[in-house]
Amino acid sequence: MLLTQYIILTFMSLGLVQASPTAPHDSPQRLSFDDVVLLGNDGSSKVLKESEYNKLAARSNVTPNTLAPQMRQVLNRRGCEQSTEIEVISDTQFTNSDVAMSPVVNSAGSDSDSLAVSRGYSIANSVTVTAGADITLVKDILGLSFSIAYAQTWTTTDTQTFTFSVPDNQYGLIVSQPLVRRILGQTISGCTDNPTRTDFTADSYSSKAFGGLDWVTGIIRLCNSTTYPVSFCSGEGEHY
Ligand SMILES: *[C@@H]1O[C@H](CO)[C@@H](O)[C@H](O)[C@H]1NC(C)=O
Repeated sequence: MLLTQYIILTFMSLGLVQASPTAPHDSPQRLSFDDVVLLGNDGSSKVLKESEYNKLAARSNVTPNTLAPQMRQVLNRRGCEQSTEIEVISDTQFTNSDVAMSPVVNSAGSDSDSLAVSRGYSIANSVTVTAGADITLVKDILGLSFSIAYAQTWTTTDTQTFTFSVPDNQYGLIVSQPLVRRILGQTISGCTDNPTRTDFTADSYSSKAFGGLDWVTGIIRLCNSTTYPVSFCSGEGEHY
């Protein structure tokens, strides 16, 4: 599939670069504020410097990538009343906004050298629809059409595989910037001469296990700031 090929190509090209090898899981790796952990779909995980990562990301075009438009998907086409179709308007992937993986710490404290991923932070596939649509039906149709489990959630556990040091006198937290596949479209239901159209947004992630953590493809890094709350490093918002 085109999407899979794209992800594999992206991370293969990133993998060509010299990077510090990932440490064995029994000895925690200490990372600095400008280190970026890359979790690739091809099973790779690498630690790069932010400057290297930015150059590579620009070169390998890790930006919204529009896939070929898809044919209308038709399901339940038994009778006028029961028919529901979905129409895909765009199918793209890009690096999504920060998802917290640890609390915000202040490096004036004693724990500033060893900020680790902690338990209870999560990310989930999701479908949102405009009012009036049957969200369960939309999830089912999309799930069948794209083979995506839209009920899937990943939750962090405490892990010491890697730790970040927060620069002196700053606030910081570990964030994931996941690679998201976003499908935008409309559901068309009811009689074909007078159908009801509703918009949907469907976001999904790819599983990636890494050092005892079941998480998703993308990058993991420190997001730091001299002020509190900490502004998102990717996307709009603040970490508290
Ligand atoms: C994060 O820390 C580095 C090193 O002190 C600093 O250069 C950078 O400006 C900080 N980031 C923010 C957003 O303050």
